[in-house]
Amino acid sequence: MRLLLIGAPGSGKGTQAVRLAERFAIAHISSGDLLREHVRDGTAVGQKIKQYVDAGDLVPDAVVMDMLFKPVVAATERGGYVLDGFPRTVEQAEAAYDVAHPLGAHVQASIHLDVPTDDLVQRLLARSRGSEDTADVIAHRLEVFAERTMPLLDYYRRREWLVTVDGSRAVSDVHEAIVRQLSVLAPHQES
Ligand code: AP5
Repeated sequence: MRLLLIGAPGSGKGTQAVRLAERFAIAHISSGDLLREHVRDGTAVGQKIKQYVDAGDLVPDAVVMDMLFKPVVAATERGGYVLDGFPRTVEQAEAAYDVAHPLGAHVQASIHLDVPTDDLVQRLLARSRGSEDTADVIAHRLEVFAERTMPLLDYYRRREWLVTVDGSRAVSDVHEAIVRQLSVLAPHQES
């Protein structure tokens, strides 16, 4: 099973990805976690991208694509993945599809977590993950999401791969709603 979670900052992508990975015995691949690891470890990539992550801007596509290629291919060989935070733009989705499809590693189903903006802001302020979760940067991340990531919903909707789930409910209710939607979708998915 190869899944993708799409949602605004704070919509619960990471939270739900952990549960889906456990439930379906697939790998959880988070672009944000991998990027933050590079920043924390001070790698060459980390030094190049710190300013983007801290400011809530998107890291250049080439960096993210390079970083994710190996984990995605490896996870596909071991039974699948749930991607959290990638792709984030239509350009990334198109480029990833071109690389992944010939390898049979492309996304099969996309899950959109829909959460009202007020809830997103409250969740992120409460979590407070460094400079990324300050009021100004949160506002900027939400703008970036609206401008750059929202068009992805149309991209996947046109491909009939998208389901939308109300992400404002309790964590376990959101999880069960995703699993229900996937069970409806599964018989219609090509491999
Ligand atoms: P990333 O880490 O992907 O951040 P994000 O998309 O802004 O999302 P978050 O991790 O903040 O939120 P989430 O939706 O995962 O929610 P979570 O489960 O954590 O990216 C960080 C940065 O990296 C980007 O700004 C960018 O610079 C760069 N980047 C990453 N990917 C990139 C890409 N593809 N291209 C270019 N740049 C990229 O939950 C949030 C909080 O809410 C938690 O405290 C949680 O406990 C709580 N919560 C979750 N669900 C619920 C619920 N149902 N009810 C109540 N509380 C809940």
